[in-house]
Amino acid sequence: MNNTRNKVAVITGGNSGIGLALAENLLREGFCVLITSRSGEVTLSHPKLSVVKLDLKDEASIANSKIIIENLVSKIDLLINNAGIADDIHLLRPTLDSFKDTIDTNLTGTIFFTEALLPLLSQEAVVVNISSEMGLFEHLQSNAYAYRISKSGLNVYTKLLAQSYEGTGIKVFAIHPGWVRTKLGGALAPVLPDEAAKGIIMAIKKEKDTGIYINVYSGQSVRI
Ligand SMILES: NC(=O)c1ccc[n+]([C@@H]2O[C@H](COP(=O)([O-])OP(=O)(O)OC[C@H]3O[C@@H](n4cnc5c(N)ncnc54)[C@H](OP(=O)(O)O)[C@@H]3O)[C@@H](O)[C@H]2O)c1
Repeated sequence: MNNTRNKVAVITGGNSGIGLALAENLLREGFCVLITSRSGEVTLSHPKLSVVKLDLKDEASIANSKIIIENLVSKIDLLINNAGIADDIHLLRPTLDSFKDTIDTNLTGTIFFTEALLPLLSQEAVVVNISSEMGLFEHLQSNAYAYRISKSGLNVYTKLLAQSYEGTGIKVFAIHPGWVRTKLGGALAPVLPDEAAKGIIMAIKKEKDTGIYINVYSGQSVRI
């Protein structure tokens, strides 16, 4: 992913936080960028930017967004599954509503949005699942059940997808961006969205293997 001119990137949840910073950085590198947002709107404006309405909790919205994306581009070189929620981050026990919302958004919706777009992946495409160290077994604590389980499941999906593309040019990564100052991360987080976005893009360019979990904050990079 070194020659970035005329490459196409799709970023879910590109209207705020890390997703918006990723869009800004990739546009600067010459990518044609498609971001998704639930409202179908975004504050950013650029000739190479398109916005696609997508609610990952809604099957019909996923199907519709696929049709719109197919009409906009003929291939995808970089798919960044960034959209996510962490509604139970401060809860010690799971509650049914937030559990369902979180799994539907972070895991089920993300997986089936990705599956819908697989036919569009170019031969050397990269799929990035924005995960979290909170989903790693060695970091488990007894809170945020749904968030942790959703990110752990996303790591498993990363491995399964990487295995199914083994031997091709397509790579799949799970990336922890660090603790980032966004709506989700909160005001005390030490990393700015732009720093996280730059770290993610650098990691994507550097990593030669597939099926890798990368912590861009610590530099840790391990096979899932
Ligand atoms: N911030 C951190 O410290 C941190 C750490 C580890 C991992 N992450 C991960 O980084 C990713 C980005 O988070 P962020 O920190 O940038 O938070 P953010 O600013 O809250 O952004 C989350 C994005 O997800 C979108 N989204 C939420 N529910 C959705 C749905 N049902 N369908 C489609 N899009 C939906 C939001 O869109 P709306 O504007 O429509 O709500 C928003 O664009 C998440 O996957 C998060 O788990 C963040």
